Amino acid sequence: MSQIGAPVRRLDYRPPEWTAETVELTFELDPDRTRTTARTLLRRAAGDGPAPVRLDGRDLELESVRVDGRALGPEEYELTGDALVLPPRTGRIEVEVVTLLEPKANTALTGLYASGGTLLTQCEPEGFRRITYYPDRPDVLASYTCTLVADEEAFPVLLSNGDRRDAGRLPDGRHWVTWVDPHPKPSYLFALVAGRLGHLDGTFRTRSGRDVALRVYAEESALPRCGHALEALRAAMAWDEERFGLEYDLDTYTLVGVDDFNMGAMENKGLNIFNSLYLQADPETATDDDFAAVETVVAHEYFHNWTGNRVTCRDMFQLSLKEGLAVYRDERFSGDRRSPGVQRVRDVRALRERQFAEDAGPQAHPVRPDEYREISNFYTWTVYKKGSEVIRMLHTLFGEEGFRRGLRAYVTRYDGQAATCEQFVEAVGEANGTDLTQFMRWYEQAGTPVLDVTAHHDAEARTCTLTVRQSCPPTPRQPYKQPLHIPLTLALLGPDGRHLPLRLADETAPTGTERVCELREPVTTLTFADVPERPVPSLLRGFSAPVRLRLPLTAEERLLLAARDDDPFVRWESLHGFFVDLLLERYRAGDAPRADGAADAPHPPLPQALVEALGGLLTEDGTDPALAALMLELPCFGTLFGLLDEVDPVRLTAVLDRTRQELAHTLRERFLACHRRLDDGRPYVFAAADAGRRALRNTCLGYLAELEDPEVASLLHRQYAMADNMTDRLAALTALADRTDGEEALAEFGERWRDHPLVLDKWFSLHARSRRPDAPARVRRLIHHPAYSEANPNRVGALVIAYCFDNPAHFHAADGSGYAFAAEQIRRVDALNPQVAARLAGCFDGWRVLDPARRELVLRTLGSLREAQGLSAETSEIVNNALAP
Ligand code: TRP
Ligand code: ZN
Repeated sequence: MSQIGAPVRRLDYRPPEWTAETVELTFELDPDRTRTTARTLLRRAAGDGPAPVRLDGRDLELESVRVDGRALGPEEYELTGDALVLPPRTGRIEVEVVTLLEPKANTALTGLYASGGTLLTQCEPEGFRRITYYPDRPDVLASYTCTLVADEEAFPVLLSNGDRRDAGRLPDGRHWVTWVDPHPKPSYLFALVAGRLGHLDGTFRTRSGRDVALRVYAEESALPRCGHALEALRAAMAWDEERFGLEYDLDTYTLVGVDDFNMGAMENKGLNIFNSLYLQADPETATDDDFAAVETVVAHEYFHNWTGNRVTCRDMFQLSLKEGLAVYRDERFSGDRRSPGVQRVRDVRALRERQFAEDAGPQAHPVRPDEYREISNFYTWTVYKKGSEVIRMLHTLFGEEGFRRGLRAYVTRYDGQAATCEQFVEAVGEANGTDLTQFMRWYEQAGTPVLDVTAHHDAEARTCTLTVRQSCPPTPRQPYKQPLHIPLTLALLGPDGRHLPLRLADETAPTGTERVCELREPVTTLTFADVPERPVPSLLRGFSAPVRLRLPLTAEERLLLAARDDDPFVRWESLHGFFVDLLLERYRAGDAPRADGAADAPHPPLPQALVEALGGLLTEDGTDPALAALMLELPCFGTLFGLLDEVDPVRLTAVLDRTRQELAHTLRERFLACHRRLDDGRPYVFAAADAGRRALRNTCLGYLAELEDPEVASLLHRQYAMADNMTDRLAALTALADRTDGEEALAEFGERWRDHPLVLDKWFSLHARSRRPDAPARVRRLIHHPAYSEANPNRVGALVIAYCFDNPAHFHAADGSGYAFAAEQIRRVDALNPQVAARLAGCFDGWRVLDPARRELVLRTLGSLREAQGLSAETSEIVNNALAP
């Protein structure tokens, strides 16, 4: 049987009985045997009278314990499985513990571990307790001094948080460096790095005129690809100053990239550590999306310096306090770098694909969870992305100025402290004279709310009445929900596509053509005056709230919005909705046997108006090509899956494939012409306009690749061979990887990039996502490829996670072979890295909406996982939740 921990509950929070004031750490680093000395000055905090001193620690080899300089015998302390406990006392105490670690053997990548020849730490959420005994909770803030001692030859670079104070050499070939971090911080923000790394330098002058030395460390060979990250960092620093008046607070700011990392990056104070994937980018090896992701993640970590580091979280339940705020700013920053509207569509699309599914499944939880077993399982789409949407709604309610005022009030009030989500919301509310008690429910209630809207036009009274009903489906442990405070941004379009001035029936004059209506009740009625003709409602503009909107619109109304609305999200959403209805209709029609008894499913034809609308996007109709590319894309599998019941995933993917083919046939000439027109032959630059043109051009290529004709084949091969950048090359190869004529190119690519891990990951992913019938066999073979490693999270992500999440036709094979493969991989990876295995185990989360035969298969697979010997607590939690009734 697997081991699962007892739940931790938010309402059980108690302030720490002992807090730490200063910590002096000494690491004698060695990949095989590292000795760590931690001398902590502790002070009795909450409560009075004597209390035991409890220091968290896991899987540590303890060498010695001293209290106020005196060595303790083993009878003077207690070692439980997860703590070192000293007898009750009060006042102050200096505890020195010496522990021994074997970084090289640490495959979980939390605590102190090795990536290649580099030693580094990852302490969030609970890694520090895997380094030494310490009160490892975010509301214990202390000042850190850290001395690193290591062989100078193998580890010439020794880094930790804060400023470098001192360094020296030892007679035995080792050297040492001491770092001092002046800002008190929780242990999860501690970091060290030791290795043979090169660096790239820059500077940034803050608004107040201080010069900050910026430095990116990476392996020497990767440095030429780190310039983009450095540039992104400068831009993010300037942006946070300009938008929110938030300035950096140390003299140096360091980024380090490593190849083995469980997540995207980590905001350790002054020493951010990155998965190489989010630090490196150049035209030859990175796509436009990779370039954009580097900017986003670099900015995200930087933004944590104020929201997360200066103001930290009281407890891990408040995770969204820092993550929501950092994601919100990284999304806005990324929008400002390129196009706010296009960025918004991309962010919404990701949210709806991932977070909506999470909110509808067995792992659903509020933005601020009420309980957890394994906190590392709560770095979720809900905490990050829905958390960001909640912040964005505050911005929508109070406007740019009001929001800025609120954020500044919060940061000023809680600087240097550990805060809660309520405290943030209260600070923003107070700064704007608004009571946000009801708004707090966004943090408390799980599930995606639904808005059911009906529109009624009264020709005689010249009014239009919108009736908006809100509801929220039940989620685990939350059967009933209270109404939420929802900002609904709306406009009305006349039949000619023009925006109408908006005046509510009880107002005297219109106030513009767009407005934010605040919903608080289960039902809200909004009556607009001076509406001569039946208007087309443009609702939830900019996706003003993370809800499902149900608004019955005719095909004509949808196409009018898609063509004429001035809100990019509504334009995209209108076409997207059109596609969704068409695909669902086609899928459902497949259920019914055809009247003539033919085997082929009936097939509602492509509406001519849709074809026209798509054709329009392929000509120079003034639409931003980046937006056109998004509008042309069919809804993904997950979106449709989430709207159905008793799903046969194989048939659903077939409907998607056939519709793609049909569009390719119908619009062949237009796709070809657009692809030709956008080929300007200019050398690659990562700039918004160029990237947008490439996106549209490659969307065309993707459709064309559905066709068998020789012209298309040669187009694909030509683009693959001639491209001067990874974006165009990979677009061609992605299409080729689905085709029988793609073998040679695929092999060439694998060979050419065999020594470049990030590009090789793309190669693994192409196999994992391929629609070819032999994809499952090839994926199983690639598990034994010499370059495959189940110890490397990026590689597992590129092959196994990509296959199980993004290749539904094969993963859901009717014989259950995909499920069996996933289970086997989960167990293998779990033995090395529980966090990655737990992520992979999420591939079964949607099982309840599968057809009965597949449900049975998944149930058996999950059941066998639950009974598996020695499964980690992390993975067990995911499996148990998936099985919970
Ligand atoms: N705080 C990190 C962020 O920027 C998340 C993170 C990095 C993390 N490494 C981790 C979370 C390891 C859990 C485990 O979002
Ligand atoms: Zn973060």
